[in-house]
Amino acid sequence: MQALANFMLSETQILDIASRFQKAMTDGLAGKNSSLKMLPSFLTKPTGQEKGVYLAVDFGGTNVRVLTVELQGNGAYSTLQRRSFPLRDRGKGYDFTSPETAGSDLFQFIAEPMDTILVPNQSYSLGFTFSFPSRQAGVNQAVLIKWTKEIQTSGVEGRDVAELLQKALAVRNLTRVMPMAVINDTVGTLLTAAYGDRHADIGSICGTGHNTCYLEPSSPITGQPMIINMESGNFNELQATAYDLQLDRQSQLPGEQCLEKMVGGQYIGELTRIIIQDFINKKLLFASGRPEIFYTPYQIKAEHIAGILADKSPDLTGVSHWLKTICQIHCSPLEERTTLRNIASAVITRSIQLIAATYTGVLKHIDPGLEHRHTIAIDGSLYELMPGYADKLNNILKNIFKDKPGFVTTKLTKDGSGVGAAIAAAIVEE
Ligand code: BGC
Repeated sequence: MQALANFMLSETQILDIASRFQKAMTDGLAGKNSSLKMLPSFLTKPTGQEKGVYLAVDFGGTNVRVLTVELQGNGAYSTLQRRSFPLRDRGKGYDFTSPETAGSDLFQFIAEPMDTILVPNQSYSLGFTFSFPSRQAGVNQAVLIKWTKEIQTSGVEGRDVAELLQKALAVRNLTRVMPMAVINDTVGTLLTAAYGDRHADIGSICGTGHNTCYLEPSSPITGQPMIINMESGNFNELQATAYDLQLDRQSQLPGEQCLEKMVGGQYIGELTRIIIQDFINKKLLFASGRPEIFYTPYQIKAEHIAGILADKSPDLTGVSHWLKTICQIHCSPLEERTTLRNIASAVITRSIQLIAATYTGVLKHIDPGLEHRHTIAIDGSLYELMPGYADKLNNILKNIFKDKPGFVTTKLTKDGSGVGAAIAAAIVEE
């Protein structure tokens, strides 16, 4: 299985990627050519004492959430109201993520449900989490560089999304809502963890998309600490397999978001499908035919991979059930089911190893002497739900920093992207 061996990285390879990543960080910060954009957020960490009720909008994929959050000070917070709604609904006949939709319509659709969670006659400061690569010239201005995660709405790239939201609020007559800050979801995740944990200095999303931010001790803009959104999903100094190249060629942005395409929930199912298809073509799997699902792009989802990896039964009955019900394969020998499991496991293990490598690069950048404790705040379905993901990630980091027990901890920071927008609004307001 040479094809799968290429997915397994040794510790030396992981460390090599970590140093390339660290170099890409310094190059990006210095404005040199780098696949890391190192975008300034104009925010630093909260004190944990920020207080008040804030409105947050969280837009990072095909679902948008609006929420009101009460920051209680002393690192405590609670979500008061929350609504989530899809940007595309085939049944209802709309899709605000397609190229046929104008950006202004998308933002009006986002602004619409806000009113339903607000207390009448009360004013709100708003934090807006917009989880796509955006260039900021200030905390409340963010120009979308390019859509990622296969979103394609027209007329948003190159525009200031804070202004688009502001206009949509005006159209809806929501004058009691005052936008204060636009942030990336990684920044929101870091702000949320740092609100109650002074060691938190890295924020990351391991979900549909992937990206990491961190607290840069000395920002090139201010010379002061500032959170930098690295857009690390775009890191490209990686050894791509033939399967990665095939996925990239057929994607929305060939040549871009290379790391994200190897690690993100949007892509790992598809990568697995491409490998399985190759195995079928080479007669290494399902000799009896060409099951449709493995020949249709994006039909295998991260949830399917999670199901396959969750199956710990000796004869892989869960995988057998999945093959029958989802793939219409009614008879497959154990050997085939094991091969399937090995493919899924290889894709996920590489995802974890690559992410661990990038975290190692960041840690060595911010703390070359490995002197302080660090919490990496992480949100996202892969880290939270993919069987073994968090444990393996922790083990790799523990091994790399084995001489420094307790040096780095990872921590699930659920809903950090939304709560973090409220914290950002509070920081700006103070
Ligand atoms: C986006 C990032 C975002 C990440 C996680 C990526 O596709 O470019 O801005 O942080 O997904 O949502």
